[in-house]
Amino acid sequence: MNASLHFSTGAHQQQWSGAAFPAIVMADGSDALADIMATHQTAIDAALAETGAILFRGFGISDADDFDHVVTAYGAENFPYAKSLSNAVRINLTPRVFTANEAPPETSIYLHHEMAQTPIYPSRLFFFCEIAADKGGATPLCRSDMLLSKLDAKNPSLVKRFRERGVRYTNIMPPENDTGSGQGRSWRSTLGVDTHAEAEARLAALCYTGKWLGGDTLKATTPVLDAVRIMPDGRHVFFNQLIAAFRGWADSRNDPSKSITYGDGSAIDPADMALAINIANDISYDLNWQSGDVALVDNFLVMHGRRPFQGKRRVLASLIK
Ligand code: FE2
Repeated sequence: MNASLHFSTGAHQQQWSGAAFPAIVMADGSDALADIMATHQTAIDAALAETGAILFRGFGISDADDFDHVVTAYGAENFPYAKSLSNAVRINLTPRVFTANEAPPETSIYLHHEMAQTPIYPSRLFFFCEIAADKGGATPLCRSDMLLSKLDAKNPSLVKRFRERGVRYTNIMPPENDTGSGQGRSWRSTLGVDTHAEAEARLAALCYTGKWLGGDTLKATTPVLDAVRIMPDGRHVFFNQLIAAFRGWADSRNDPSKSITYGDGSAIDPADMALAINIANDISYDLNWQSGDVALVDNFLVMHGRRPFQGKRRVLASLIK
């Protein structure tokens, strides 16, 4: 099988350092996407490292099993949701494929690197749009290296603080999954435990601090995590969950203003967060899904989110270790 790989030019791509963002591969009617993945993983990975996101359009991928076949053909190791410390409630459909987030349609999921608020995160993300929303529902994508360099140009002392101090995240987890929240995964599911004693042991092993609150909820604070990461090729990225936590970790348990601090416990000025948010918004690219689309995202180089939507929308995800 000699499936061919051709990158196309779309009307609204961004250009960063001479590379189109996202890269686009359009079906030409002859090759199956799984065959392209199996044949061209090296070239796909090279393009992904350069630009950070690739959209595969028109290949007729129709359901979770099709999508699983494509991801499996790509050939990289699975990052299972069940063992992750993700805050999001998700449902596994195949061993490698799960619903992207069960949060309600009107909820925005703000820009983030997947699981950057934990010490364990995937390197790449696959998304598949099974059903495009009637209205809205784009996945904003943001080049994190460009965000950081623009932030550094505007406020170098802020970036210096992020680099030197790192960050800590605090999240209050319910005893059972709360599907009304974008970060409503229960402490039992998040930590993979049943009892308080097991939860405390797992938190200690992860160097988290924890406190039991009323209603059998668990307040957990991470160890100091990096806010800025240096990639193997030398690019610096704003690899963290600050924007999503600051803007979006609001539910019946959580107050976003208390969800993030610098690593030394000092407060992050909301005006500083606003600067980062405004730059990120300015340079985000909205991936407007068509049913059947598959996208591959470099989780270190690119942030993603979810716009609110109307109608039925179903986007599935699969993570690569
Ligand atoms: Fe995500």
